[in-house]
Amino acid sequence: MKIVVTGGLGFIGSHTVVELQNSGFEVVIIDNLSNASIKVLENIISITNQAPTFIKLDLKDKAKVQDFFRAHQDIKGVIHFAASKAVGESVENPLMYYENNINTLVYVLQELNKLEHSNFIFSSSCTVYGQADTMPITENAPIKPAESPYGNTKKIGENIIEDICKVTPDFKAIALRYFNPIGAHKSAKIGELPIGVPQNLVPYITQTGQGIREELSVFGNDYPTEDGTCIRDYIHVVDLAKAHVVALQRLLNDNNETNFEVFNLGTGTGSSVLQVIKSFERVSNKKLNYKIVDRRKGDVISAYADTTKANTVLGWTAESSLDDAMKSAWNWQQKL
Ligand code: WQD
Repeated sequence: MKIVVTGGLGFIGSHTVVELQNSGFEVVIIDNLSNASIKVLENIISITNQAPTFIKLDLKDKAKVQDFFRAHQDIKGVIHFAASKAVGESVENPLMYYENNINTLVYVLQELNKLEHSNFIFSSSCTVYGQADTMPITENAPIKPAESPYGNTKKIGENIIEDICKVTPDFKAIALRYFNPIGAHKSAKIGELPIGVPQNLVPYITQTGQGIREELSVFGNDYPTEDGTCIRDYIHVVDLAKAHVVALQRLLNDNNETNFEVFNLGTGTGSSVLQVIKSFERVSNKKLNYKIVDRRKGDVISAYADTTKANTVLGWTAESSLDDAMKSAWNWQQKL
């Protein structure tokens, strides 16, 4: 079965391609290489010994998207990762985010909608909940006003998909709301490749451990949490990738209850920044150099998933612990 993975050379995309191939799917990767290296393709092949088809294509080019789908009428599903995802950058340059994350989604949906089989998996984010009122966060938690244009593109994206599903019964979609993806494939051949100074916590930690960064700045320790630092749900990227295969199979096997479903993908455990630092120190046997600085604008105090729906309805559960994920992130960093 041919599955298209847009953004398939990115961090979560590449790990999902590996798991799709492990599950016997034929994969076509679309990527414009704006935030990924072609070397990732070779590394995927070296892991699975299967060569996905790779099409370098910018989804902002509507005519090219139409040509692609016209040439691949036998597609059974699309997993859509392709999007810009830097929160800070989206505040600086909102229109670039709306063009790159929304226009491209519309073009892909328009073409998928013309095919006989329309199965669509959307890369969404827990950011749609903003600062949720209660923890852990269920899929029924109210959707809050977006804290950034990036977060808004995820909210709008879900609304667009839901609107199509309302009027097109045989268009089936699942939105997966990720918590905080971290770590790397056990082979250390693929992993997170932040461009420039890492915005996210774990790559900044591993680069500091490696000596690439002087010291980690902890953005505030005066939050109303046990140790004063923010709490997140850090999920191993391979567990996350496997959830995409399970969600796709749910649609391919017509096991979905409605034609638009949403699942939170997390471990169900919240970890503070200081606990993540301790995890790194345990798995690396190194002391991490860090200092406490002011809070970062837009950070929520706490966000971790209620995994009941993913576990019982989707039939998927994260298997890796924080230390497992951190160990894989450190192995990857050392390999880099
Ligand atoms: C985690 C915690 C920081 C860096 C973002 C996006 C989300 C998703 C994942 C794309 C926070 C603290 C961080 C540092 C720090 N991205 N931190 N020092 O902000 O939870 O989520 O990335 O889908 O949409 O919002 O992740 O890793 O940036 O931060 O103290 O150098 O680590 O304050 O508490 P975040 P993060």
